[in-house]
Amino acid sequence: MSFPAAGFPAIRPRRLRRSPAVRAIARETSLESRQLVLPMFVREGLTEAVPISSMPGVAQHTMDSLRRAAVEAAEAGVGGVMLFGVPAVRDAIGSGADDPDGILNVATRALVSEVGDALVVQTDLCLDEFTDHGHCGVLAPSTGSGTDPVIDNDATLERYVAMALAQARAGSHLLGLSGMMDGQVAAIRKGLDAEGFTDTLLLGYAAKYASAFYGPFREAVDSQLEGDRRTYQLDPGNRREGVREALIDEAEGADVVMVKPAMSFLDVLREVRDAVQVPVWAYQISGEYAMIEAAAANGWIDRRAAVLESLLSIRRAGADAVLTYWATEAAHWLRER
Ligand code: PBG
Repeated sequence: MSFPAAGFPAIRPRRLRRSPAVRAIARETSLESRQLVLPMFVREGLTEAVPISSMPGVAQHTMDSLRRAAVEAAEAGVGGVMLFGVPAVRDAIGSGADDPDGILNVATRALVSEVGDALVVQTDLCLDEFTDHGHCGVLAPSTGSGTDPVIDNDATLERYVAMALAQARAGSHLLGLSGMMDGQVAAIRKGLDAEGFTDTLLLGYAAKYASAFYGPFREAVDSQLEGDRRTYQLDPGNRREGVREALIDEAEGADVVMVKPAMSFLDVLREVRDAVQVPVWAYQISGEYAMIEAAAANGWIDRRAAVLESLLSIRRAGADAVLTYWATEAAHWLRER
């Protein structure tokens, strides 16, 4: 019998998997620490960091522990940090958001002076941490007839512009527009430019879905929210609508657009990547973090391998950068490799 015998495979893709060296040169997608952004929580009035029980390894920071964690992220080679503030007092319009002495703005100034040369210091721009009702916008005087709250979109835009100016004045390099109000990118860009902040980058949370995986985040920011955000965040069944939102944000002047959550919306991520020209980032959210941590804690999966595979998958689907609570740890792992 001659070799190869009839019927033997002439095409052998396995050749590209034959050794670590061949696999390394054949790998299509790379993961680098500079592509990771670390979300961080800072809570007003804390004297000691408070662990978030549903996110093992993540804490609400004091100003001091925030600075230390940001320095550690910078030293590990992480690309940026995204700051969330948890104020001591909340009200109907989220006054703490645009107060220069509000926790988020104070923390931003501290981080910009500490690590501003090494990291892209980014701030969440949304009212939900600052409102007593926990919604991302201000409520209309009439709450309507149904069970859905009525968010006053255009009144909220005014609050967002005030918040954007406060964050830009605090030195934030990039504002993360996560509130999902119509016209937010255009309104904030115009407001910033009018005050001379033409260099402040805007990240449009274009395709932000109403997801069950935000659960642990609500603990992280002591959320007061009752009900849900389905009148402003996207329905998880909608793919085209996510692409449409990304195109709108790009047209309104977003420097970067976001798809969020990441792992349950990888198809949307791929399509948005193909549809726009600006960088596309994805947010691996609290529930995605909790899910892997819980399985790993039970010994059901290999923690490090699962984390790195999840990040690589998000990159493969089209994310230019990934917001992840594992950013610093993953950056250390990538350095070891
Ligand atoms: C809104 C905001 C949320 C998250 C980031 N920004 C919560 C929400 O929309 O309910 C969630 C992040 C996460 O779950 O890790 N300011």
